[in-house]
Amino acid sequence: MPTIAFPAEVKAGEKRCALLPVNVKAYKLLGADVLIESGLGQHIHVSDEDFIAAGATVAPDRSALLTQGDIILSLHKLAGDDVAHVKQDALIVSYLDPFNEPSFVDTLCSKGVTSISMEMIPRISRCQKMDALSSQASLAGYVMVMQAVNTLPNVLPMMMTPAGTLKPAKVFIIGAGVAGLQAIATAKRLGASVTAFDTRTVVAEQVRSLGAKFLDINLGETGETGQGYAQALTPEQMQIQQREQAKCIADSDIVITTAQLFGRKPPVLINQETIALMRPGSVIVDMAAETGGNVQGSVSGETVSIHGVNVIGTGAWANGVAKHATQMYASNLYNLISEFWSKDDNRFALNIEDEVQSGCIITHQGKVVNAMISDFYASQKQTTKDGAA
Ligand code: NAI
Repeated sequence: MPTIAFPAEVKAGEKRCALLPVNVKAYKLLGADVLIESGLGQHIHVSDEDFIAAGATVAPDRSALLTQGDIILSLHKLAGDDVAHVKQDALIVSYLDPFNEPSFVDTLCSKGVTSISMEMIPRISRCQKMDALSSQASLAGYVMVMQAVNTLPNVLPMMMTPAGTLKPAKVFIIGAGVAGLQAIATAKRLGASVTAFDTRTVVAEQVRSLGAKFLDINLGETGETGQGYAQALTPEQMQIQQREQAKCIADSDIVITTAQLFGRKPPVLINQETIALMRPGSVIVDMAAETGGNVQGSVSGETVSIHGVNVIGTGAWANGVAKHATQMYASNLYNLISEFWSKDDNRFALNIEDEVQSGCIITHQGKVVNAMISDFYASQKQTTKDGAA
């Protein structure tokens, strides 16, 4: 019987993990043994005993777990040292951040393991149940609003009381993708007056259907990739966006930025001059603070005051609701594994020609086999060469 192994997450502050007891039962029904590292669910109040009761076994230590696993599933990538313990023909699945982690991808190639990057699951209907970027982004949208609410010295809903009327807070959401739409819905539920903007004008209808206003900015030609991601704006378009949204930002109590560009640095959307237009005590939440920032001056993992405005850059947002985030991520993983499980051979049926697998498998038999990633590495090498010439 193949063994599916779940190492504990070692990234500082991480509370989520890749498995709940309910998933242990499902993996066992597929025909796999489940091996966990002790303490896997400790931060979400799931004990080793809970996993054992569901049918899992606890490995004597981390290296034994890695050595035994035919499939190794986790949230974050393994530590570099971990890879030495992994079997050569193992399959490892986690966030791999392959655009930014070429040296880790090299380590995976040297070991010869097959690796799947959860960020690279294709955005097609068949894959929605496996899409961890979406499941975690949706929770992030909720958490960002909650953090903003806890920082703002005002309430969100309108309140008519004998002591006077409190006006509803104004919330502006930039980027109305998965996280942004959830942030809009959450802020609306709390009674705020919500406006949103996105360069993909196709989302205007979705914004309005949530009861929010869509800020109309004429940027000329914008677009999205085949997978629904935004195209980068030209510098001129960026200038127009920054200028046109400044009035809405100045008038807002809370601004939440969620703009991302897949595989690239996020765009800077709010500069310090615009922050200075906001009322002191207002709040900005920068979803992209960890990866470069949508807001000039935001700091990853911290809340900083800029011109009296609290700029929140917590990051790892879904970690704020770690139990539900684990439930969703663990389901995404299970849905991926079960989708390709061969009942006849009782194993994960690797097929790098498959539309889904070819999109998310990064390394196989010592090579980078993912076309998007190998093209990206080649272009990076070319840029370095051109720079040196
Ligand atoms: P994302 O995280 O890459 O970007 C977030 C949002 O920021 C996007 O809506 C993007 O258009 C926007 N953005 C980028 N630059 C901006 C700028 N300068 N100003 C304002 N907004 C900007 O994207 P996310 O949220 O993960 O997904 C985007 C879309 O992909 C979804 O709305 C959906 O249409 C599609 N999708 C399809 C899925 C499927 O079919 N399986 C699954 C998930 C998403």
